[in-house]
Amino acid sequence: MKDTPIKREIVDRKIIDNNIANVGKASIRVIKKLVDEIEKESGSRFVRMEMGVPGLPPAQIGVAAEIEALKRGVAAIYPDIQGIPELKQEISRFVKLFLDVDVNPVGCIPTVGSMQGGFAAFLLLNNLHEGKDTTLFLDPGFPVHKQQHRLMDLKFDSFDVYNYRGNKLRDKLESYLRKGNISCMLYSNPNNPSWICFTDEELKIIAEMADKYNVIIMEDLAYFGMDFRKDYSVPGQPPYQPTVAKYTDNWLLFISSSKAFSYAGQRIGMMVISDHLFNTKSERLIKRFTSNIFGNAMIFGTVYSLSSGTSHSAQYALAAILKAVNDGKYNFRNDVKEYGEKAHIMKKLFTENGFKIVYDKDIDQPIADGFYFTYSYPGFSGEELLKEMLYYGISAISLAITGSEKLEGMRACVSLVKRNQFPDLEARLQCFHENNPY
Ligand SMILES: Cc1ncc(COP(=O)(O)O)c(C=O)c1O
Repeated sequence: MKDTPIKREIVDRKIIDNNIANVGKASIRVIKKLVDEIEKESGSRFVRMEMGVPGLPPAQIGVAAEIEALKRGVAAIYPDIQGIPELKQEISRFVKLFLDVDVNPVGCIPTVGSMQGGFAAFLLLNNLHEGKDTTLFLDPGFPVHKQQHRLMDLKFDSFDVYNYRGNKLRDKLESYLRKGNISCMLYSNPNNPSWICFTDEELKIIAEMADKYNVIIMEDLAYFGMDFRKDYSVPGQPPYQPTVAKYTDNWLLFISSSKAFSYAGQRIGMMVISDHLFNTKSERLIKRFTSNIFGNAMIFGTVYSLSSGTSHSAQYALAAILKAVNDGKYNFRNDVKEYGEKAHIMKKLFTENGFKIVYDKDIDQPIADGFYFTYSYPGFSGEELLKEMLYYGISAISLAITGSEKLEGMRACVSLVKRNQFPDLEARLQCFHENNPY
């Protein structure tokens, strides 16, 4: 056996110090803290792939607009809860120009990251109609959404969508929806963590089910335009980012500015509510959410209670970024396509050293290169692999915490890995492979 790049003793002790009973099941933030400490003590830099943070500088147009807004004094003033008018207008334009969908700016609401949008929507949608009190997740997915459900004591159900692609999706969805308790469905597209991308055929099926069973589709576009096989970045020109909103009125979108515009730190995202859903009435909402109109209940009952709106200066930043994108003056895809290029190289390093790509197919095509990829190693469960690879200075998360059925798998995020770390990554993977022949 070759010595591992990180002393086993340091990793084991830090796991105990952090009171982590099963490192393979630990949440992303717990792994992050653990690896920070191991790096400090060992003096060795990890190949860090656990957290989905942007690895690029923020969109500079946003930074400049935000500084300017702060200088004007907006920090002293409460922002409108529904969002500043210029931002609402630009969000509506963005939805038209990049999704080819019409929406009234009234339903375009800034939130404290998509994360807050999700929190608000889960709460409201599960209280909209009597008996409809359960969210259905099309997994694998982002673990924090389920944590939000636990926190609010809301019910959820889920299944791993990988084996139900294409036409098979209809029957699978119906098996859940016909029970009548599902209020809403959530999926991310491209998918975190598997990077599968729903086709228009699948989005039509999802829309058909939404209409048939009166279910709201929450489409999480955290990785907007980042299926790099296509170029969705030219305003007003096809191809458009595929969306369920083309095929039903029962939708609500989350568009994050964290990854597409590298603006995660300012915690600003967009919740976009279809005109139909915005105006949906339910007397059940009045008592807890102050209005019987869905959109008003969202703004004045929910977002108001959570944070009284979204950071004033960040709203000016996002308005400026979107305006530049909408006017065709800033192509965000050019900035972020580096993620796909890195993924391509990193996947090769893994597969050349005995690792397998877990979610390797997008129906009948190879999975695209993007922000995440998934891997496994014969003979290891994902939980075992996570721990074992810490000794090799490589950190990621286990797919087990994402609702995936692929319990042997791991999720790797490419964003924080610098190209100058690739030789290190290769040497560590080779060492792992030599020590674990199969
Ligand atoms: C699928 C998905 N949804 C939502 C989010 C959160 O986005 P935001 O930073 O806008 O809250 C993430 C972030 O990693 C994500 O991967």
